[in-house]
Amino acid sequence: MGNQAKFSAGGNDHEFPILSGSVGPDVVDIRKLYAQTGMFTYDPGFTSTASCESALTYIDGDEGVLLHRGYSIEQLSEESSFMEVSYLLLNGELPGKAELEDFSRTITRHTMLHEQLATFYRGFRRDAHPMAIMCGVVGALSAFYHDSTDISDPVHRKISSHRLIAKMPTIAAMAYKYSVGQPFVYPDNSLSYTGNFLRMTFGVPAEKYEVNPVVEQALDRIFILHADHEQNASTSTVRLAGSSGANPFACIAAGIACLWGPAHGGANEAALNMLKEIGTPDKIPHYIDRAKDKNDPFRLMGFGHRVYKNYDPRATVMQKTVREVLTALKVNDPIFEVALQLEDMALNDPYFIEKKLFPNVDFYSGIILSAIGFPTTMFTVLFALARTVGWVAQWNEMISDPGQKIGRPRQLYTGPTARDYIPLDKR
Ligand code: ACO
Repeated sequence: MGNQAKFSAGGNDHEFPILSGSVGPDVVDIRKLYAQTGMFTYDPGFTSTASCESALTYIDGDEGVLLHRGYSIEQLSEESSFMEVSYLLLNGELPGKAELEDFSRTITRHTMLHEQLATFYRGFRRDAHPMAIMCGVVGALSAFYHDSTDISDPVHRKISSHRLIAKMPTIAAMAYKYSVGQPFVYPDNSLSYTGNFLRMTFGVPAEKYEVNPVVEQALDRIFILHADHEQNASTSTVRLAGSSGANPFACIAAGIACLWGPAHGGANEAALNMLKEIGTPDKIPHYIDRAKDKNDPFRLMGFGHRVYKNYDPRATVMQKTVREVLTALKVNDPIFEVALQLEDMALNDPYFIEKKLFPNVDFYSGIILSAIGFPTTMFTVLFALARTVGWVAQWNEMISDPGQKIGRPRQLYTGPTARDYIPLDKR
C-alpha cells in the first residue's frame, strides 16, 4: 500500500491514498470521501483541486516552467512551429518529417468552411464583437458537420479535431472581415497555417497579398505560446461541457465563451489600453503608486498570475518577439519603451518583489498584435484560435480516459431549509 493521507472527522479516522504524478505536487485521492464520511470538500476557484489526470502540459509556477509533453515552451517557441506543436499536443510525440507533412496537409485540406456558413455571418450586426461571432459560428459547426459528431468513434473525434484546428483561422478572419465590411478572403492552401490566416485577415481580392516572413514567424510563435496551459478556466469549461457527451464543436464554443472574460483571454487588451493610458515614461511612477495603493482598485494589467510566482516564461519570449516585429515593420512605438521601463521599475520595487508579481504573457502581446495591424477586439480571437489545439487535445484525452465521468461538483448549501408554500393571497 502506498502513502496514505490521514483525516479525522466526527471522531473517526479515515485514510485516503496519495497519488504521485511524473512531476509536480502529489494529490490526495478523495473520491471515496463522501461515501466514507458524508462530507464534501470545499474549494471555490479550484485552488487546491486536481480535476483530472493529464499528460499534456506541466507548469511549475514557482520555477517559471511550462512544458508541453515534456518539451519546454522556450525550445518549442524558438525551434518549432505551431503545426508541429499542434501535432505534439494531439499525439504525444514530435512528428517525423513525413508525419508533419501529412498532418499539415490534412489541416490545410480542411481550411474551407461550408459555403452556407458565409450567410450565417450576415445574420450578425456589423458592429458585433468578433468573439460573439466566434461563439456563434463555432457552435454552429455542429449543424454543418454531422459526419464527425459521434464522440464514441475515434475516427469522428480525429476528423472533428482536425476540422476545428483547420477552420478556426478561416472563422476568425471572416469575423474580422465582416466587422470592417470587406469581402471574405478564401483560404490559399499553398501558404502556411499562419501565413494563410494573415492573408485571409489582411488581404483583399483586388490585390496580391505578400506574407511578411517576420510577421508570419512572430504570429506563429504567439500561437505556440497560447497553444495550451493546463487546466485553466476555458480548458476546464471544455472538459466539463465534454464530460456530458456534448459534441466537440459545442464544447469548443463553450471554451470560447469562457475565454472571452477579462480575467482570462481579455487581459492583453486591458494591458495595451493601460500602456496607452500611461503614454510616456515620466507617468510610470504615478501608475506604480496607484497599483500599490490599497484604496485604489487600479492594478498593473499584464502583471501577476495565479500560477506563475517567479516569472511567466511566455512573457520572456514575447518581449524578444516584440523587438523583432517592431524592427521588421519599422514601427517606432513609444508604448514599447513605456512597457520596458514599467517592467524594469516594477521588478525593482519591493511591493512587486514581495508579492512575486511579474509580467505575464499578456503584457507584451498587445504591442505586437497592434503593430501587425489587429484591432484590440481581435486579440482574444487570436488567443481562441491558438488555444483551440489545447482544448481539442484535452477534450480527446478526457474522452479516451476509461475512468471519465460527467463533471458534477457538489456545494455548501446556505439557503433556506424546507418550508411550506404560502398561497399568494396569504403572503
Ligand atoms: N497589480 C498590483 N497588485 C497586484 C497585481 C497587479 N497586477 N496582481 C496582484 N496584485 C496584488 C494583490 O493586490 C494582492 O495583494 P494583497 O495580498 O496585499 O491583497 C496580491 O498581489 C495577490 O493577488 P491576488 O489577486 O490574490 O492573486 P491571484 O493569484 O488571485 O490573481 C491575477 C492573479 C488575477 C492574474 C492578478 O495578478 C491580476 O489581477 N493581474 C492583472 C490582470 C492580468 O494581467 N491578468 C492576466 C492573467 S494571464 C492570463 O490569463 C493569460
